[in-house]
Amino acid sequence: MSEKVNIMLSEEELTQRITELGAQISKDYEGESIFLVCILKGAAFFACELAKRITVPVTIDFMATSSYGSGTVSSGEVQIKKDLDLGVEGRNVIIVEDIIDSGNTLNYLSNIFRDRRAKSVKMCAMLDKPERREVDVNVDYIGFTIPDAFVVGYGLDYDQKYRNLPYIGVVEFE
Ligand code: IMP
Ligand code: MG
Repeated sequence: MSEKVNIMLSEEELTQRITELGAQISKDYEGESIFLVCILKGAAFFACELAKRITVPVTIDFMATSSYGSGTVSSGEVQIKKDLDLGVEGRNVIIVEDIIDSGNTLNYLSNIFRDRRAKSVKMCAMLDKPERREVDVNVDYIGFTIPDAFVVGYGLDYDQKYRNLPYIGVVEFE
């Protein structure tokens, strides 16, 4: 099966929105510092661009999760494949995700950081697909709300491909 990628959000649109999110977060955390938790691999591009636009002190660390299942559907079961190097106790955590789909990943992670006694836990997702939600999660910062389509680029993959595209595209399976 081959596939084609059609542009949904351009690099310019993404950059502009990330700049707005950075400004909003900087305002909300004035006088505080932030611990950004980037969820690998998908959120890496977004998290770096976002971090560059935050003006309060930032610590960044990385975590990798997998939601078991194959193809383009999440199974609901989340596993930590790589944990943080640093502790989050007493820190203002913002979990940075590429996309919120079923909501299972963010729901699971927000509970983990509360158990680890973070001072506060907020969530930031570059994209939101609300039509596919299975668990109700409150995402504090959202880049773009998109319709139910499988998207790639800006960190997001299909079968480990297309992460390097500078835009968000929809995969059309031919
Ligand atoms: P959730 O746990 O179902 O919310 O899924 C979150 C994870 O599924 C994301 O971090 C992505 O890795 C992956 N995912 C969900 N939708 C897409 C998509 O449209 N394209 C690429 N990956 C996706
Ligand atoms: Mg993925």
